[in-house]
Amino acid sequence: MTQRIWNFSAGPAVLPESVLEEARDNLLSLGTTGIGILEHSHRGKAFLAVYEETVALCREIGNIPENYRVLFLQGGASTQFFMIPMNLLPRDRTADYLVTGAWSEKAVEEAVRFGGTHTACTSHDKNFSYIPATCTFSPNPVYAHYTSNNTIFGTQWSGLPPVPGGIDLICDASSDIFSRPIDVSKHAIVYAGAQKNLGPSGVTLVIMRDDLIERGSKDLPTMLQYRTHAKNDSMYNTPPTFAIYLVGLVLKWIKKGGGLSAMGELNQRKAGKLYAYLEQSRLFKGTAAADSRSQMNVTFVTGNADVDTKFCSAATKAGFDGLKGHRSVGGMRASIYNAFPEAGVDALIDFMRMFESENAV
Ligand SMILES: Cc1ncc(COP(=O)(O)O)c(C=O)c1O
Repeated sequence: MTQRIWNFSAGPAVLPESVLEEARDNLLSLGTTGIGILEHSHRGKAFLAVYEETVALCREIGNIPENYRVLFLQGGASTQFFMIPMNLLPRDRTADYLVTGAWSEKAVEEAVRFGGTHTACTSHDKNFSYIPATCTFSPNPVYAHYTSNNTIFGTQWSGLPPVPGGIDLICDASSDIFSRPIDVSKHAIVYAGAQKNLGPSGVTLVIMRDDLIERGSKDLPTMLQYRTHAKNDSMYNTPPTFAIYLVGLVLKWIKKGGGLSAMGELNQRKAGKLYAYLEQSRLFKGTAAADSRSQMNVTFVTGNADVDTKFCSAATKAGFDGLKGHRSVGGMRASIYNAFPEAGVDALIDFMRMFESENAV
């Protein structure tokens, strides 16, 4: 087999090797069924067992209270950007958005199609390089929406945003879901595309408080009503069976590794090493404000676009893939989600040190 390299992709992203091996073993026959995981009917006993185990693991690992539903939907987190306001935001009401990056902006752009929106805070003034310390909410918002981790800009809310009690809080956790403990009970909805921390692309986890499910209009297209998916255990139509199966394997891997507190400690250690190196580097500099740094996406620059390009191509040659930063930030971005090994962070730091010694002025 070709040797695997260090994959810093922002998503789809690296998956645990043991998970990939188990999936490979079940491609031709899921357990002793004689039918591969990709070939099982979603209505059959074998897949239903996979589905139920995946939901149960999700509840256990995320400490999800009884009065929340776990849904596996399609259309990516981007579909939630419009499905949420379409179902929950009446035309004559307002929803508040905490705008900390391009993905939050996209969420607002969809919400304005359905009702009023209010920007409770934004870090647009400094190219989203920080998490605002304060927010100003509208008088009676239907909900407040935030993005817990800003994949492109390398910033992350270190805790819950300062939302007054009684306001339903909705979180786009696409790029840090289950990377640390999460208090679901403080949220009305938590949603995340799976392709960074949970599995492959093609499935979106939506954790939703019961009372919201029936709120949406029944005139919406059937597939766009949450009640459809809640009533049918995410199987109103054919679900992405393989993606759900893989999420289940990743959740088992998280559980085996000690759950979300252990995951949180590991992620803190991995990111901490990289930030510590950046702080003392004479060549590289982190782009996120110190109190807003992401543990998932570490963004950095040299301050010289040509040197950035030189670094990226040297890194690629040395087996470090996916380090080129998003065009709106430039420079580099190391995405180090749950499954990215600590050894890969150590190897990157060694490589950066070497590059620095050859290129620092
Ligand atoms: C924070 C965040 N939200 C939403 C999205 C969009 O997700 P999807 O591609 O699943 O629609 C992304 C994708 O990278 C993301 O990082």
